[in-house]
Amino acid sequence: MCGIFGCISKNGNVAPIIHEALKRLEYRGYDSVGEATLYNGKLYIKKDQGKIDEVHKIHNLDDLPGNIGIGHTRWATHGAPLKVNAHPHTDCDEQIAVVHNGIIENFSELKLELENRGHMFRSKTDTEVIAHLIEEALKSSSLSLEEAVLDAVRRLEGSYAIAVVSTKEPDKIVCARNESPLVLGLGENAVYCASDIPAFLPLTNKMVVVNDGELVVLSPEGFKIKKISDASLVTREPKIVDWTPEMAVKQGYPHFMLKEIHEQPACLRNTLRLQEHYLDLMSTFLDRAREVFLVACGTSYHACLAASYMFSKLAFLATYPVIASEFVEQHGKSVNIDSTILAVSQSGETADTLAAVNCARQRAATVLGLTNVIGSTLTRVSRVYICQQSGPEIGVAATKTFTSQLSVLAQLALRLAKKRGKVSQDEMDFLAEKLESLPDVVEKIIETQEENVKRIAKKYKDAETFFFLGRGINTATAYEGRLKLMEIAYVPAIAYPAGESKHGPISLVEKGFPVVFICPRDGTHKTMVGNIMEMKARGASIIAVVEEDDDEVKGLADDYIEVPRGIPEVLSPIPFVIPLQLLAYYMAVERGHNPDTPRNLAKSVTVK
Ligand code: G6P
Repeated sequence: MCGIFGCISKNGNVAPIIHEALKRLEYRGYDSVGEATLYNGKLYIKKDQGKIDEVHKIHNLDDLPGNIGIGHTRWATHGAPLKVNAHPHTDCDEQIAVVHNGIIENFSELKLELENRGHMFRSKTDTEVIAHLIEEALKSSSLSLEEAVLDAVRRLEGSYAIAVVSTKEPDKIVCARNESPLVLGLGENAVYCASDIPAFLPLTNKMVVVNDGELVVLSPEGFKIKKISDASLVTREPKIVDWTPEMAVKQGYPHFMLKEIHEQPACLRNTLRLQEHYLDLMSTFLDRAREVFLVACGTSYHACLAASYMFSKLAFLATYPVIASEFVEQHGKSVNIDSTILAVSQSGETADTLAAVNCARQRAATVLGLTNVIGSTLTRVSRVYICQQSGPEIGVAATKTFTSQLSVLAQLALRLAKKRGKVSQDEMDFLAEKLESLPDVVEKIIETQEENVKRIAKKYKDAETFFFLGRGINTATAYEGRLKLMEIAYVPAIAYPAGESKHGPISLVEKGFPVVFICPRDGTHKTMVGNIMEMKARGASIIAVVEEDDDEVKGLADDYIEVPRGIPEVLSPIPFVIPLQLLAYYMAVERGHNPDTPRNLAKSVTVK
């Protein structure tokens, strides 16, 4: 996730306006920053790695000349967070500048094609291909900038919101959108394009939403929208937004956590755009290892636990999920050159995870990383790393992290299974198709179940304890549901593999004790029904997360939350965790707590 911004002003230089707007978009990423302006037929660019304030201190972003320009604040996905990879990116002649938010899936093919035709690339980003494609379109025929951008974006696969300026038409910004957000702002004496409303909200509250598959030409006179597919004109009336700046940053949601829960379909779509060769490389390391440890803390650990079932069931690889703070004590003496450590950390900076990784490195083990932050310590110490692609997560309680990490880990397990010849092509195709459908499935759960979960949270808001039970891979989902409820709603809660519940914790159960069952229709279903009966017999209130046509469990439950049917077992934690995230969120709200800032906790724990 990055932030893009563009501005054409009728009075005065735009550089300070862009700078301020990027500050308001900094929550979308802060690896590097850059601005490009046009003045007297020349392109001026300033960019560098680091946060906006740091870069401004060194380069003074405000003194770029001109009344038209674009800017970018970056959350790295392709290419390290270095100056060379900072946006805007330019064509060979530095006449065109592009800022981009999104992921261009086919950039490697396009880059090769362009390089073969003599284009010189400066960065490792996917974005730079866009500048060169526009350059070609402008050079090879007498196209306008608008037509050249249209030509270029028609060749792109993936997600993008872009803003482009060119010295050839120095009074225009051309933007286009597919899947990444883009809005226009219309002021008295200026027009703006941005990733998000907060960027221009202090300047104007008159806005226009740009839809997927649309291209926009901004000029001092206003805006024109066209469809990318057939270049037909679109008419759209501006709207007035009545958000406060604080509401705008949360896109109208009361809390970041709820916004991030709702972002999960989009994040899952991003995880499906990983570069194949990294998955291949990582699965090769996993395949060769004598032993594989999955090391993480908190929510990332729960993703590892679920992943251990994926690796075992799909690729027939036994892995050891280990809580990072225990790794050195448990395996510090035995880990060796034949061991591989897959460290999973949203921040890439968690001290316990890094300590485990250091111990493993000292003993010559291979370290692989899965993280959300390219440039983090974890990426620097890993032989290979993959980005979980979810953009900054601000709520302390991780939500989109869990589902994104699981989607990446599932792809890795599938890749390894293929390498090892452990799944048939039919099964591979089936699972790949199901994986692709997950963003829509998650969207549907949120759409259809949020009100229901809110009602359940109201009903149980005064419960003194909660019990979460799952079996198989959904033991991890139960742990994650418990963690969410405990950390933000402050409800003491326990989670167990359902089969183990009768070896102790069932003694806690008395009338009205809420027990949440994660109950997909997989091989564990029959025994789960038995566990539900055991709890019911002792007076527990049963809250079941079930597949929508599971009348048997619905009939037994006091309350149930539905998930679409037909999700393969190995992928089930992704949809099944969504109701539990919502439950924790609404329980926290009902109990009067701010879910974004739970007491005593930190987003990134950098002490051991
Ligand atoms: C902290 C956060 C959790 C997170 C854990 C691991 O405890 O509050 O939300 O899951 O750290 O963080 P990481 O960045 O390593 O995934």
